[in-house]
Amino acid sequence: MTDAPDPLVIFTPSGKRGRFPAGTPILTAARQLGVDLESVCGGRGVCSKCQVAPTFGEFAKHGVTSSEGAVGPMNAVEQRYDRVRGLIDGRRLGCQATVQGDLVVDVPADSQLHKQVVRKRAEARTITMDPATRLQCVEVEQPDMHAPTGDLERLKTALALPDLQVPPAFLSHLQPLLRKGNWQVTAAIFEDHTGAPPRLLDLWPGYRETPLYGLAVDLGSTTIAAHLTRLDTGAVVAASGVMNPQIRFGEDLMSRVSYAMMNPGGAAEMRDAVRTALADLAAALVAEADLDARDVVEATIVCNPVMHHILLGIDPVELGQAPFALAVSDALNLAAGDLDLGTINPAGRVYILPCIAGHVGADAAAVALSESPHRAEPLTLIADVGTNAEIILGNKSKLLACSSPTGPAFEGAQIAHGQRAAPGAIERVEINPETKAPRIRIIGNDHWSDAEEFGTDTAVSGICGSGIIEAVAEMRMAGVMDASGLIGSAEQTGSDRCVPDGRTYKFLLWAGGETGPDIYVTQGDIRAIQLAKSALYAGARLLMDELGVDHVDRVVLAGAFGAHISPKHAMVLGMIPDAPLDQVSSAGNAAGTGARIALCNKAMRAEVEALVRQIQKVETAIEPRFQEHFVAANALPHASDPFPHLRAVTPLPDVQFNAAAGQGRRRRRRDG
Ligand code: FES
Repeated sequence: MTDAPDPLVIFTPSGKRGRFPAGTPILTAARQLGVDLESVCGGRGVCSKCQVAPTFGEFAKHGVTSSEGAVGPMNAVEQRYDRVRGLIDGRRLGCQATVQGDLVVDVPADSQLHKQVVRKRAEARTITMDPATRLQCVEVEQPDMHAPTGDLERLKTALALPDLQVPPAFLSHLQPLLRKGNWQVTAAIFEDHTGAPPRLLDLWPGYRETPLYGLAVDLGSTTIAAHLTRLDTGAVVAASGVMNPQIRFGEDLMSRVSYAMMNPGGAAEMRDAVRTALADLAAALVAEADLDARDVVEATIVCNPVMHHILLGIDPVELGQAPFALAVSDALNLAAGDLDLGTINPAGRVYILPCIAGHVGADAAAVALSESPHRAEPLTLIADVGTNAEIILGNKSKLLACSSPTGPAFEGAQIAHGQRAAPGAIERVEINPETKAPRIRIIGNDHWSDAEEFGTDTAVSGICGSGIIEAVAEMRMAGVMDASGLIGSAEQTGSDRCVPDGRTYKFLLWAGGETGPDIYVTQGDIRAIQLAKSALYAGARLLMDELGVDHVDRVVLAGAFGAHISPKHAMVLGMIPDAPLDQVSSAGNAAGTGARIALCNKAMRAEVEALVRQIQKVETAIEPRFQEHFVAANALPHASDPFPHLRAVTPLPDVQFNAAAGQGRRRRRRDG
């Protein structure tokens, strides 16, 4: 007679299975099989993170029948937990419940250690939780006169971390804390991807029920945005943005570099301003989420090279001139105090993502991490558009990056009626190709201007970046502007909205009447947009040349601005290379997402560091072909590139106003 085999345990949803002797705790079985089941208290029935749901019945798929007796009854620890805290019906504590017979056990999503963070965009990569800081609740052995070891040494033994680094400041708190918790403490342990010894960040008496938090910061030239994120689930509990106070030292990056050059102490002044703003923003988020500053133990920061240097207190002067040398390009692991970030846990850690090059910063690295072109086959072009466009092109075989000086036109600057994206600004435009009559939508009003609900007394204040792109592209599609960017006269276009403006024409987009100014798109506006879009396109084409390709499969527009650009209009302008329209998408704030990924998963820090080493940098400023591409890209959409995908979906009228305009005006004068 052979002995009956040990009970078979099958975990769902992973499907992992194995045989274990009767009496084995379910958590032990899970660990041996590598099932993702959380435990903060090490199986002492305190944290309840290990909850599982045994299921009973016949499971043909798994070839087992699981009866109620397949799980042992509740022991005293589990009964006490159930009595005091209450277990959800059907749930058991995995560390206490034992295997008694063949069993199917479900691990609910909230008990999985490496939870997946749900993201809104279907094509976005999932974030798997595995932060650098974790909570660990332990029972520390009490002192014994006969075996005299220190409390700290016994804490390290209980944590099973003999090489734990403990800041000296903790030592004065350790003894009262251990006694207050009756020898039970919860430690916040930081252990990142670098292989450095684990570090004690904080300690609480007893079992700490509440999670830890981190800040993912996108430090932009104009705004500083931060997401306060739970380090157990990845959920964002508060998010906010403030204007970067450095704006008072210069609107754009180069003017801030010159401020540092012209004013002794200027770099330090800007450093203090940005650090104060960051600390204030962290404090506001902590208050909004009703937390204690100590709860926030980590921050990750992404920024462009100039902001990066100013934040670190490095004079950015070298970034203002060739060869655009960075003082440091690798990722940085810092203490919160190094950045005067006094409004989070004083022992908190800060990770700054690596910079790609002197013009392509940690923000671009974060975008690459978020969009992951290096993991896919399709050739992906990512453009993060601001006053500088940071462009990445490639796939899993090779990645290239450059930056291109687009200037501020895409942000509504240098545009006659341009303004920042704010209520009242035109953000969408459509022009009827027959009547040439435009209709608009403005920020803060959900209706098109030709709808009754738009209202008759709505004040329209100007045009924002996405609005000017649509306006110019629609003017091209409606035939009031030709491929060279010239606006035609009323005679030539058949629209009395085209009115003379000095030696050129301008197009009336919105007649303000009683409610506000008339809003025109001028020839100067078109020229500013042409310069900006040519710079962006030339950068993309340069990377395509370097890679030896004549097309891209996918285009991702990143950044706050990218989020609002219509792919079709961007292509009509020739801002981006031709691609199937359904393969042009917006990634929203991909830089901020990259910061959040690095916050939630420490392995992603190693990945972004490797990625940055792998990206080949291309310098646009010294490349003669950039100039050639720039000139050819001046036409709308382009002087020579055919744009077949675009032309298949959007007819572009073959109008020409240049010579005819001159003759027309001369004739009129002669007639007069
Ligand atoms: Fe903490 Fe089970 S592991 S209660």
